[in-house]
Amino acid sequence: MSKELIRLTQCTMAFDGEVVLNSMNLVINDKEFLTLLGPSGCGKTTTLRIIGGFVTPTSGDVCFDGVRINDVPPHKRAVNTVFQKYALFPHLNVYENVAFGLRIARGKNSRLSKAEIDERVMEMLAVVSLKGFEHRDVSSLSGGQQQRVAIARALVNRPKVLLLDEPLGALDMRLRKDMQNELKRIHEAMGITFINVTHDQEEALAMSDTVVVMDGGEIQQIGSPEAIYNEPVNAFVADFIGESNIVDGTMISDGVVEIFGRKFKCLDKGFGENEPVDVVIRPEDVDIVNVKDGMLTGTVTNTTFKGVHYDVIVDFKGFKWLIQTTDFCPIDSRIGIKIDPDGIHVMKKSQYSGMFGDYSSYSAEYDDIGDAEYMPEEETAEVESYEA
Ligand SMILES: Nc1ncnc2c1ncn2[C@@H]1O[C@H](COP(=O)(O)OP(=O)(O)O)[C@@H](O)[C@H]1O
Ligand SMILES: [Mg+2]
Repeated sequence: MSKELIRLTQCTMAFDGEVVLNSMNLVINDKEFLTLLGPSGCGKTTTLRIIGGFVTPTSGDVCFDGVRINDVPPHKRAVNTVFQKYALFPHLNVYENVAFGLRIARGKNSRLSKAEIDERVMEMLAVVSLKGFEHRDVSSLSGGQQQRVAIARALVNRPKVLLLDEPLGALDMRLRKDMQNELKRIHEAMGITFINVTHDQEEALAMSDTVVVMDGGEIQQIGSPEAIYNEPVNAFVADFIGESNIVDGTMISDGVVEIFGRKFKCLDKGFGENEPVDVVIRPEDVDIVNVKDGMLTGTVTNTTFKGVHYDVIVDFKGFKWLIQTTDFCPIDSRIGIKIDPDGIHVMKKSQYSGMFGDYSSYSAEYDDIGDAEYMPEEETAEVESYEA
């Protein structure tokens, strides 16, 4: 997985003078499952289209296996695409829909015999678990099965890279989860590079070796799902991936950060002394304890049963945090919280500071109650601060 296959260098894409991709640098390795993740309009499809050769970047280079391919047309690239609207041929059966991928590619492959076509089609139908469906009418298939036909059609030419543009977007949630596993399995079976596009962070984390988080035509972070979740580089990534409480803090020294005027132990280091920072605390990393044992105390303003846990909204001096706990905490109760050093993640200030990570809009109807009981004096008095 470490051999480089595709490299985008300083790729910029502008439409009518409007920059939608800004100086993108990205290296994709052979056999990698890489996902471009970001909100609608951030430039994911444009990136995919540049790799596929459907658009040429305004500036910058696209290299494949070390060769510059800016001017190589799509059908001469070892790349195939599966779109969200997979556009199968309704008048052809499953077999013919897949075989079509080979028949149109004849120009570039040497002419394949009927037996070779048959072998490849059957092989691909086996890969996507549709053996026995060859003669079925595609319109009689479920959405998930149709998507698997589209994947087989794209794979039958044996591309080195499969581009997938929101391939699961049209499926309902249950099916989407099944297809996530299915795609992972197909990726392993084929042993080629998959470049997937999605705005669904759960899907990106579940399927990918590497996640590329994008916003505003720029890459925010590249990393493994674990790294993106545990070590987000800025407030945008922290907010986009999972749930995050993000608060202003000050880095006092290596391993000590101040939040709400209290000092907390953390594992982060390498910041300037007294540097203003953004601090991420994940809802599952907060322990609820007695008021007298709390590093901070707050008032519960909302609680929602989620099955595995409760989502509890807690007001700390007017800031609302989301905490996930298996303990029931009634509304209006006072609670204390504890956070272990590894539950605190410190980030540099960025253009996204102050924009995310606040749960005050979680349930507007409880805002008034929270405000009425807002007692900053008492809170300050009864909490012992942690001193390093
Ligand atoms: N052919 C085009 N002409 C003009 N603007 C475009 C074109 N293609 C994409 N854009 C714009 O570029 C931005 C990024 O689009 P896109 O890459 O499709 O985003 P995503 O796939 O992340 O939702 C959007 O603002 C979109 O409107
Ligand atoms: Mg798109």
